[in-house]
Amino acid sequence: MQPFKAYRIDEVDGKGRGAFIVMDEAQLDPGEVTIRVAYSSVNYKDALAATGAGRIVRRYPCVGGVDLSGYVEKSADPRFSPGDAVLATSFDIGVAHHGGYAEYARLPAGWVVPLPKGMSPLEAMAIGTAGFTAALAIARMELNGLRPDAGPVIVTGATGGVGSLSIDMLTKLGYQVTAITGKESETDYLKRLGATEILPRSSLDLANIRPLGKAIWAGAVDNVGGQLLAWLASTMKNGGTIASIGLAGGASLNTTVMPFILRGVSLLGIDSVNVGEPLRSQLWQRLAGDLRPSRLSEITRRVAFADLPGVFDDLVQARSRGRIVVEIAGERNGASSN
Ligand SMILES: NC(=O)c1ccc[n+]([C@@H]2O[C@H](COP(=O)([O-])OP(=O)(O)OC[C@H]3O[C@@H](n4cnc5c(N)ncnc54)[C@H](OP(=O)(O)O)[C@@H]3O)[C@@H](O)[C@H]2O)c1
Repeated sequence: MQPFKAYRIDEVDGKGRGAFIVMDEAQLDPGEVTIRVAYSSVNYKDALAATGAGRIVRRYPCVGGVDLSGYVEKSADPRFSPGDAVLATSFDIGVAHHGGYAEYARLPAGWVVPLPKGMSPLEAMAIGTAGFTAALAIARMELNGLRPDAGPVIVTGATGGVGSLSIDMLTKLGYQVTAITGKESETDYLKRLGATEILPRSSLDLANIRPLGKAIWAGAVDNVGGQLLAWLASTMKNGGTIASIGLAGGASLNTTVMPFILRGVSLLGIDSVNVGEPLRSQLWQRLAGDLRPSRLSEITRRVAFADLPGVFDDLVQARSRGRIVVEIAGERNGASSN
């Protein structure tokens, strides 16, 4: 293996800071499966890690990128053979184990998922952690009894990666979706994804949240946290389900027990990082099946590896929309995807 390009995060003055370097195979982390990385993606977490805006990286130095897809180069695990198309997200990838922003990655076999039939490496990264998390949230909400006829589902942080993909998947499943966004200029985009109602965040009075407000939502996918999550709790219908995913608007939660004990509202915590098998592969199969996003080209933009550093600030400042796929080594030298 020739020396290869990587975008590594080092600790500088107590904060993470990313830069391009050249690595060799001996510097890769331990693992059974060596992957030639075709694509990676940019999640909110990746942007916080690379800019040092959040304490995300647990081991320095660390190649960034919590998501990757590509082709097996070599494997000491019999489940994988050279040329197999694979993907990997979460666990320690990109935060405590060299991640997807490098032409090669070496991972424990238990973190590697065979690419579902019919899904390309590019599509896998358009979905990435964001889509996997949306799928996990929907699966858990369904297990908790959510059905399209129960009432509308609301999605916060709607123009973000998780938000956009949640809207796409929920509307495909037949749910009526309301989107909450801080970007009123993106109303048409959210409608194209299938949302029937768009609520500007500025239209909500988050300073005066009653313990129980008008009961509207059967389900809520929350990427924002803070006061918005408190407002959601107070406006859920009887038996409603909230999937708490993110903290883009704050980590605190000031609410009352009223929605939970008087309306039977459920607050489900969603952690996409530590989902083991068989659930991880089952969700990826659903992402290639009934949950397959139908507006991925609308949601996704592609950037060259060299342009990666230029996209992080937009995510941190909430100026970004949808998903960003990073072309690492692309499809060259790759076997055909299944
Ligand atoms: N629990 C898990 O396993 C898991 C997995 C993936 C992501 N997450 C979390 O989920 C959240 C969304 O992730 P993502 O990758 O979709 O991020 P993203 O693409 O950056 O989207 C975040 C969206 O949140 C909204 N937002 C940003 N700053 C805000 C603020 N100060 N107040 C209110 N809303 C704000 C914006 O949407 P609008 O402008 O449309 O409102 C923004 O586009 C993040 O907090 C991320 O850390 C958690």
